[in-house]
Amino acid sequence: MFPPDFAWGAATSAYQIEGGWQADGRGPTIWDTFCHEKGRVFGDQSGDVACSSYELWEKDLACIQQLGLTHYRLSFSWTRLLPDGTTQHINQRGVQYYNKVIDDLLACNVSPMVTLYHFDLPQALQDQGGWVSPGIATHFDNYAKFCFQTFGDRVKLWITINEPQVCAKLGHEDGIHAPGLKEKGTTAYLVGHSMLLAHATAWHSYNSEYRAKQRGAVSLALNSDWFEPLDPGRGEDVAAAERELTFTLGWFAWPVFVTGDYPETMRSAIETRSKELGYGGAPRLPTFSKSDPTVLGTADFFALNYYTSRKVRPEDVSGQTLSMRSDQWAEDVLDPSWPISGVPWLAVFPHGLRKLLNYIKDAFNDPAVYITENGFAQVGPLQVEDRQRCEFYRSTISEVAKAVQEDGVDVRGYFAWSLLDNFEWADGFSVRFGLFHVDFSDAELTRTAYRSGREYASIISKYKSAQS
Ligand code: GAL
Repeated sequence: MFPPDFAWGAATSAYQIEGGWQADGRGPTIWDTFCHEKGRVFGDQSGDVACSSYELWEKDLACIQQLGLTHYRLSFSWTRLLPDGTTQHINQRGVQYYNKVIDDLLACNVSPMVTLYHFDLPQALQDQGGWVSPGIATHFDNYAKFCFQTFGDRVKLWITINEPQVCAKLGHEDGIHAPGLKEKGTTAYLVGHSMLLAHATAWHSYNSEYRAKQRGAVSLALNSDWFEPLDPGRGEDVAAAERELTFTLGWFAWPVFVTGDYPETMRSAIETRSKELGYGGAPRLPTFSKSDPTVLGTADFFALNYYTSRKVRPEDVSGQTLSMRSDQWAEDVLDPSWPISGVPWLAVFPHGLRKLLNYIKDAFNDPAVYITENGFAQVGPLQVEDRQRCEFYRSTISEVAKAVQEDGVDVRGYFAWSLLDNFEWADGFSVRFGLFHVDFSDAELTRTAYRSGREYASIISKYKSAQS
């Protein structure tokens, strides 16, 4: 069903699992600050301890082996390596930790895929203005080069930045992620721009300084739902669905994979709205200048995080003030035939992934694709026998197989989110995405496979035996 060397993975991120927030010289991040402010996160919880993977890495490794993964996607904590975000001060204990993780994985025949930035900006850099400060691309590039230099002999798959759209929008427009800003309709576009430039700078560094020797591949992970018109026969709905796809995925994928610039429909929608509201400042969507690094072509593969699908129709925004939402004027409607997982935003529609994969093939020049995240949330009392999630994984993976076999999409790998139940950002520990249950009430933080973990292991094992 899947090509040879298909990557079977699971994913995590540093802040969500590591804990040890002050251990061995780790510096503070914007998520430490955010969680320690009252009222930001469900139950005022934080990633101070989380799954304690900094202490209990061997337990995670045992889970990885139990699943039979070929790949494991983790992220580095920038401040565990560089406590103030700069290469002025390198924390050798952090280097030792990630060296051990990487070496242990390789010793078990598991290839690491490493994300450099998964939402956890060093607080010291936030204090200088964060993602909109002029020096941020250089700081990120220095951090990336340090990682390529230190770990690139063994890490061959790199993600620079995870979900720039989420960082920009949830962190700077909606204020529900760190750093908690609500600067509607302005800052998110600047943050997205900075992230694209930071990514491109790091990709060029890899390309010119490390690629020949290390022979790895570098990309950025883009999140998108699949958006389709509420009424496919209605032109306005079709246009609204396209607008939303453009504002979510096209915002980053278009510059990187197609033209080196933002989609024209996005720019014109934003400009039109600025005029309607008499907004007189500089264009809210920045322009790329000649002195910027080239963004076009700075991805060696397409890394997609997919969770859900939406039906879309135009939204009447006439009474609304400046915001990204009113720039898009598209309204999401959940299809009642799609079952809801544990969280209201995650409607289960595996076929949407196949459609999105086909869209990516057509719109972005048939790239090699890794599905770097996909998963199903559970809430409430523990259900180790999580049959609904088993069904979710079976049908999603079968949609991926169809995209590969019947539609010719070049999918190279699939990473389930997540290896373990973990700190789910603003939802704290109330939402569980793990293939392994973590008992957060027990000092040992015991990991126990869900039925879906065993199911995923059996899918992987069938694949492996068909290959041999
Ligand atoms: C993604 C994010 C992950 C995880 C997941 C589930 O947006 O990259 O860290 O939280 O969503 O909500």
